[in-house]
Amino acid sequence: METVVSGIRPTGNLHLGNYFGAVKNFLKMQNDANCLFFVADYHSLTTHPHPDNLNATVKQVLAEYLACGLNPDVSAIYVQSDLPEVAELFLLLNMIAYTGELERSVSFKEKIRKDPDNVNAGLLTYPVLMASDILIHKAAKVPVGKDQEQHLEYTRNYANRFNHLYGVEFFPEPVAYNFGVNLVKVPGLDGSGKMGKSEGEGNAVFLKDEPDVIRKKVMRAVTDSGPTEPNQKKPEVIENLFTLMKLVSSDDTVQHFEDSYNNCSIRYGDMKKQVAEDMNIFVAPIREKIKEISSDDKLISKVVKEGAEKARESGRKTLSEARKIIGIRSF
Ligand code: ADP
Ligand code: TRP
Repeated sequence: METVVSGIRPTGNLHLGNYFGAVKNFLKMQNDANCLFFVADYHSLTTHPHPDNLNATVKQVLAEYLACGLNPDVSAIYVQSDLPEVAELFLLLNMIAYTGELERSVSFKEKIRKDPDNVNAGLLTYPVLMASDILIHKAAKVPVGKDQEQHLEYTRNYANRFNHLYGVEFFPEPVAYNFGVNLVKVPGLDGSGKMGKSEGEGNAVFLKDEPDVIRKKVMRAVTDSGPTEPNQKKPEVIENLFTLMKLVSSDDTVQHFEDSYNNCSIRYGDMKKQVAEDMNIFVAPIREKIKEISSDDKLISKVVKEGAEKARESGRKTLSEARKIIGIRSF
């Protein structure tokens, strides 16, 4: 059976970008593949070295995963730092990861531009740790959003390099995967290209957001003064609003607003009201489940304990084989 792995950093609550970029795809696969889904707490330390309460955020993200429908009976749901094999594979893969290549990472360059006072080695080797998360389970598919495409390229490089160096067919070449073919990029509400946890207030709609919060955020979304000619090409901010609408509204609703855009009768206020309403309809059941599960400490600790056991089983196997291939043997 095919193995599928994905993770999310616990740097805040889950938002619609996380859902449509990663979680939704995972949900579709969990009954047909060997699925592992984890909270990438080590990765969050690269940018958040002093999290106010790492443990609480990890717990919150776990509750949100479960509320989305990740099923611990079929998938392994675990915390990255509960799988020590990942740290050892990371060390081994670092030997075949070239610094020049890592310095060219788009995400590394962006992170050091945003925070030039924290250019740490963990940030540089972020893709090596991510490759370890994936290769430790020999996963074939990795459900992620478009922003993670380059990280998967690094993963394939390391898998290939390892196989080539040791003359083995050991690691597969995993791909960034989306069920609907193209990788997804969910836009933010503030006119910035991407919805993200750390993009500032008003950019992201979180799965835990109450209806009035969603309404406020959506109503403040950046638009323009409207089309002046029939069938005019949409400017980026308007395209973004349509992209968001397509995620949560019916085809008929989208078509209605497409038509009114094309005949210049569109009122963005009405469109935003509709988007907010449909987002709330989408989010409401997940939000209610989050509330329920967040207070269930017993359930969460049972899930991660069992998840870590499953993950460690496959982690131990891969690591011991990798050590043998490299020539590390005990006397
Ligand atoms: P964030 O960008 O909010 O910090 P992460 O970097 O932890 O979130 O991303 C976790 C997962 O969610 C990744 O698979 C990532 O590709 C996906 N993701 C995050 N934001 C978006 C987005 N705006 N569109 C599509 N996928 C996204
Ligand atoms: N880098 C991913 C992100 O920021 C999170 C992540 C860490 C991940 N390890 C992974 C995703 C392994 C998929 C597989 O979104």
